[in-house]
Amino acid sequence: MSWHCASRPVIGNLWLGSMLTLMALMVLASTVVNGHAPISNQKDQGKKYTGAGTTSNLRNIVIGRCYHYMSLYPDTGDKNCTDIWQELIDAVQKKDPCKISEEDYTRLSLVSAQTIPCDKTLLWSRTNDLVHRYTKATQNFITLEDTFLGFLFNGLMWCGKPLRPGMNFKSCPAWNECDKNSISSFWKMASAAFARSSCGVVNVMLNGSADGDIARKESILRTVEIPNMDPARVSEVKLWVIDDIQGEDKNSCDSKSLLELKQYIEEHNLKYSCIDNYRPVQALQCADNPDHAACNRCNYH
Ligand code: APR
Repeated sequence: MSWHCASRPVIGNLWLGSMLTLMALMVLASTVVNGHAPISNQKDQGKKYTGAGTTSNLRNIVIGRCYHYMSLYPDTGDKNCTDIWQELIDAVQKKDPCKISEEDYTRLSLVSAQTIPCDKTLLWSRTNDLVHRYTKATQNFITLEDTFLGFLFNGLMWCGKPLRPGMNFKSCPAWNECDKNSISSFWKMASAAFARSSCGVVNVMLNGSADGDIARKESILRTVEIPNMDPARVSEVKLWVIDDIQGEDKNSCDSKSLLELKQYIEEHNLKYSCIDNYRPVQALQCADNPDHAACNRCNYH
């Protein structure tokens, strides 16, 4: 009797221990089978990034822009706007926003594919505002942001949440916060596709009044667009070096930074040319500064 009485707690402890082990194993198995986040990953769900969160109403904006673009440019063809939205979601949701590669966007790029007419591509570096004012005013050239894919996503933010569906509306990685993030990988993919599909003369608007290199060493122009142009289809890369009309002339076609960029372009087997203050762009600057000396017709060069 006393043996039984003395041994009951031991048997009880063994039973309790076995049950706890069994329960732990069941939780582990359920985690593996159902793909629930392990406890360490669950902490990542609340991770705060330094960039803004996913743009509110992102779905409506993207689908709305998709129909708007097709109404502006009927040549785009009949794109399935809901499919395009779904491809964006599939590229990023349930994934770590710092582990999104350009390849994750391959399907999105395929469903948004577009033919770019030869001689119409206009690339840019450090001239974001002027170049888009120019393409709006003339409609003679196409920047990435004027293409279907660029128009859909320009100025928007998005990222998913590791192992959970839906978007993170609180914060997303900023451009340089991590190497392969949902935003930088998207724009690298889109820039590469745009450069690959360009043909004939490819124009590039650069800022002659900016400090430092005419195009940053890590710029999309240098690291993605120049290497992705096909020398068999691109007859020439034509640089336009535009000074701010009120600004200094820090770089022009004969300056060191331009000659270095020339060499880089030629190393990619592409032909090069350069023009300072391309007159049609200067004419646009003159619309805002009609009395400036450079806007006197006799001073045009
Ligand atoms: N940090 C923050 N934003 C960046 C960074 C960066 N390191 N690199 C690029 N960006 C984003 C920003 O939105 C910025 O305004 O790209 C924009 C342009 O950067 P620039 O140095 O002016 O130019 P570049 O990097 O050469 O990109 C422009 O890429 O978008 C395509 O076809 C387009 O030819 C154009 C080129």
